[in-house]
Amino acid sequence: MQEKVDAILREVGAAEAKNQEELEQFRLRFISKKGVVGDLLDEFKNVPNDQKKAYGMKVNEVKQAVQAKFKTLIDNLESGQAGTSEHEDLTLPSAGHALGSMHPLTYVRNQIIQVFERIGFNVADGPEIEDDFHNFTALNFPENHPAREMQDTFFIEKNPDILLRTHTSNVQVRLMQKQKPPIRSIMPGRVYRNEAISARAHCVFHQVEGLYVDKNVSFVDLKQTLYHFAKEMFGKDTKVRFRPSYFPFTEPSAEIDISCQICKGDGCQLCKYTGWVEIAGSGMVDPNVLANCGIDHEEYTGFAFGMGIERISQLKFRVNDLRLYTENDVRFLKQFSTLH
Ligand code: DAH
Repeated sequence: MQEKVDAILREVGAAEAKNQEELEQFRLRFISKKGVVGDLLDEFKNVPNDQKKAYGMKVNEVKQAVQAKFKTLIDNLESGQAGTSEHEDLTLPSAGHALGSMHPLTYVRNQIIQVFERIGFNVADGPEIEDDFHNFTALNFPENHPAREMQDTFFIEKNPDILLRTHTSNVQVRLMQKQKPPIRSIMPGRVYRNEAISARAHCVFHQVEGLYVDKNVSFVDLKQTLYHFAKEMFGKDTKVRFRPSYFPFTEPSAEIDISCQICKGDGCQLCKYTGWVEIAGSGMVDPNVLANCGIDHEEYTGFAFGMGIERISQLKFRVNDLRLYTENDVRFLKQFSTLH
């Protein structure tokens, strides 16, 4: 009997629990009804009467050792010391904390803001959950117009429609409603579209839009502002071109291309062998939009533009899969650790 008890006590003494699972194994092996202590108690009835007292004392010894050990294992697990030995060298330097770094989209967004702030734009903000008026109707998207189809999104309520904004143009509308010109603002923010996620499309992405409304604002101002932006962002040698386009909220409208950053205009996969890549949409604010927002379009004119932050980041850092931005894979994020 003494031998058996000694063996059990040795096993209990050596037991460790590095996690909850191992703690549970200890409980099952020693404490549960079918465990070691339970077995010893079951044996009690077979012990001759004259030895019962001594036996009982031994069982008690085992039971107390098991309970004390169980408590120690729980305490160690809770304090994070599980598995540490008494001989650990406490004078060693700690492992230290890994520092996070800036997300590439945050970096690019800040850079875009800085370029525009230096030429007198301020930053405006608005809601991501928006009504139909601010996201579509005020911006001259007629009911059932195909342009709405291209910006299908996630609807939170129908009739009246509450939705996740498809662009940050809703902030343009809100600004014009509450502020008398001059207005010179940019609006960075998160936007949503009903897209299946792939390398080239995502249901969540980021934009920076800009709006300048005042007396005598012309297409010349639009062009010079965006030339300036492209050269600040991508370097002085960058070529810029305006391509006629269509947006419901601007008239005339233009898409802005820059010379391809990868092949410098020679032609490559990114620019589809044209030498040019699109970076933004732009145009003169449609008089209907000014009127919808309560601004006198006889007195004031304005220009607006919008760009995708992911797109600018792709051109700067050659990230060719949109999913990388949201997967939070440290191997991806670490590559930007020198940005600040
Ligand atoms: N809102 C447009 C989009 O999401 C981008 C855009 C184009 C914004 C032209 C503008 C603009 O303000 O003038 O596709």
